[in-house]
Amino acid sequence: MIKKAVIPAAGMGTRFLPATKAQPKEMLPIIDTPVIQYVIQECVDSGIEDILIISGKGKRSIEDHFDRNFELEAMIIKKEDEEIYTQLRHIENMANIHYIRQKELNGLGDAIYHARYHCGNEPFAVLLGDTIIDSVIPVTQQLIDTFEQYKQTIIAVETVPPEKVFRYGIVGGETISNKLLQIGEMVEKPEINKAPSNLAIAGRYILTPEIFPALEKTQKGKGNEIQLTDALRLLLKKENMIAQTIEGKRHDIGNKLDFLKTTIEFALKRKEFSEPLMHFLKEITGPSKPGSSIG
Ligand code: G1P
Repeated sequence: MIKKAVIPAAGMGTRFLPATKAQPKEMLPIIDTPVIQYVIQECVDSGIEDILIISGKGKRSIEDHFDRNFELEAMIIKKEDEEIYTQLRHIENMANIHYIRQKELNGLGDAIYHARYHCGNEPFAVLLGDTIIDSVIPVTQQLIDTFEQYKQTIIAVETVPPEKVFRYGIVGGETISNKLLQIGEMVEKPEINKAPSNLAIAGRYILTPEIFPALEKTQKGKGNEIQLTDALRLLLKKENMIAQTIEGKRHDIGNKLDFLKTTIEFALKRKEFSEPLMHFLKEITGPSKPGSSIG
């Protein structure tokens, strides 16, 4: 049983400046819901309610978002807006959320190392706080199902085009089934000619507690940071690991273009927005009418 999840959310969000100068990238909204709320929802939908967020400088609004706000509630009650009131109460009660601060930004591996006391001797899920995966079955649940069967570290992956390989942790290995691969090697952000494949680590993991001693031994790697991929590589010498191709669509919210696309895609799925938004998109992208101009 996987009962705990860790969400690293301490990063500076430099790819999204200036929007992230004074607000966490995890709080950027896709329409009206902060990215991290989608991530927490994925945990909850996967049966996990004990969540540790690795927080850091400038991230306090994440805590406020999941906390109760009596003043706001009182105001909403006065306005008799039942729908919003229900939503607010839902957010406050979604999960049991704990926080720990990563004081120095020493990389994803170091962030996960901060979870060692919280996770103790249990396997746990990791969900990157800036990645939403839209799927029928929550991706964390997909990984948990495989973990229950194999009792090994499970790493979510997806195929990326060769020109994007250098941005990801890349795994290689032997096919077990059309979705599963027994990992033989992995490398963080390789050059394309050194990559074992084009299967990229997709921001979701089921880790065993053995990752903590491995992290302890891991030296700084790419970007002069302690990389989770490097610790996993060390552990791979002792333990088997599986890569699982995700069934779902990954949205990297730290990337501006992805953020825009995600916003449009999610809005088109909301019944109050789909029709007027589609109409608007057709209007601004359709064949230009004589005498009209954009912008
Ligand atoms: C991290 C991981 C990388 C993974 C990626 C997925 O990199 O280190 O292995 O492929 O997340 O988004 P980051 O994007 O934080 O540089």
